[in-house]
Amino acid sequence: MEVEAFLNSSKLLQHWPSCLVGLLLVLVIKYIVRKRKDSSKQDGTVRDEDVATEFEEVADDDLQPALEEKPHVQFVPGQTLNPKGAQRFYELVCGRRSIRSFSALPKPSLSVIEECIRAAGTAPSGAHTEPWTFCVVEESGVKQSVRWIVEHEEQINYNKRMHPQWVTDLRPLQTSHVKPYLTDAPYLILIFKQTYGTTKEGRRKTHYYNEISTSISAGILLCALQAAGLSSLVTTPLNCGPALRELLQRPENEKLLILLAVGYPSDDCKVPDLERKRLDEIMVKY
Ligand SMILES: Cc1cc2nc3c(=O)[nH]c(=O)nc-3n(C[C@H](O)[C@H](O)[C@H](O)COP(=O)(O)O)c2cc1C
Repeated sequence: MEVEAFLNSSKLLQHWPSCLVGLLLVLVIKYIVRKRKDSSKQDGTVRDEDVATEFEEVADDDLQPALEEKPHVQFVPGQTLNPKGAQRFYELVCGRRSIRSFSALPKPSLSVIEECIRAAGTAPSGAHTEPWTFCVVEESGVKQSVRWIVEHEEQINYNKRMHPQWVTDLRPLQTSHVKPYLTDAPYLILIFKQTYGTTKEGRRKTHYYNEISTSISAGILLCALQAAGLSSLVTTPLNCGPALRELLQRPENEKLLILLAVGYPSDDCKVPDLERKRLDEIMVKY
């Protein structure tokens, strides 16, 4: 047996040039596959995380834009340079804080919320796809269901899913899995990103950069709420998206991006003593 093993190993030694050629061949094939993947990225056939939608197979001649092709119209600039406007806007948004203690009363009128969402709807979006849905919840039973779902998942998040460092980083904010604001706040706005849409002809429509677009829209909503004198809390409860989507019976193309609580702060509302970065820490001039 030992002789046979020796003969086998010596045969291997004799064949090392062919082994090397084989190895080189494998490496070359791997390189070609990688190259082809990279080039298909450029022609748009590979799905990027932000464009995670299937393109339907359509002959090039039959391709139609999702938007109607119309002549461009004259842009009407509605304003002149207003440095005071920038300063006033800063003063307004500087006063925004995330609050976690809401007063149920007085209840802001729904028309104010609608106006703020109208403002959010002016946001730019990838290829003007407007990939957002704002679900406004004011019914107490639905708010209670949202709270059950979130508190149940957050208990698991804090105890098991989140890294101990994450839980530790949250300690100064004094957050926990208990979320009374979800039932105290007069309004919850659940902001869904639409991962794809449908054309008038019923074809699947790609919503390019839907997460970035919806986040910009949410930022405008926060500013509008602040301008209206309302307070808010942005939350992104881990693992709650599917259950909340089901609760609100949203279609499968919608994914929860932000759960926003909106209202007035309670009389004894306290906020973490936070500092913000200075301008020279966040801006680089070239
Ligand atoms: C993307 C995002 C996710 C957040 N998620 C939560 C959350 O799940 N729970 C929470 O209590 N606060 C959440 N916040 C609020 C932040 O903790 C808060 O914005 C931050 O501490 C700064 O405080 P400020 O908003 O008062 O300036 C979130 C904020 C953002 C922008």
